[in-house]
Amino acid sequence: MNLSITLTVNGRERMLALPDPRVTLLDLLRDRLDLTGTKKGCDRGHCGACTILVDGRRTNSCLALAISHDGADILTIEGVAHGDTLDPVQAAFIAHDGFQCGYCTPGQIMSAIGLIREGQAGTDPERVREGMSGNLCRCGAYAGITEAVLEAQR
Ligand code: FES
Repeated sequence: MNLSITLTVNGRERMLALPDPRVTLLDLLRDRLDLTGTKKGCDRGHCGACTILVDGRRTNSCLALAISHDGADILTIEGVAHGDTLDPVQAAFIAHDGFQCGYCTPGQIMSAIGLIREGQAGTDPERVREGMSGNLCRCGAYAGITEAVLEAQR
């Protein structure tokens, strides 16, 4: 079977052959496009390390079959800065120490960007924590992450 899809990844159109219809967006991004900023944690939809935006919506890329996303617009952590200028969410994570080891950080930032774009972040820390609850941080940097999301949307 010869399958191919077209994706727009960080603003660039890519036509990709799929040797296996079971390949996920996560593996496609990391293994085929060398976009390794998107991390593989659990590979089961539990940790959020693989979060990307698909057509503007937060998505666990480990659960998303590439073949089901022909024509999709994908934003990964590599595409959020504008040249040398960080996205406000990235800058806020640095300002508030919203990370420790950094492994979950790309997923946290993509989730925060999605949450803010959805208009779901609000100004209540509890609401931010709820909105970010799909992204786990084993270092426990949640206080900084919450502060970063609150600042970034101001
Ligand atoms: Fe996708 Fe954990 S790697 S949710």
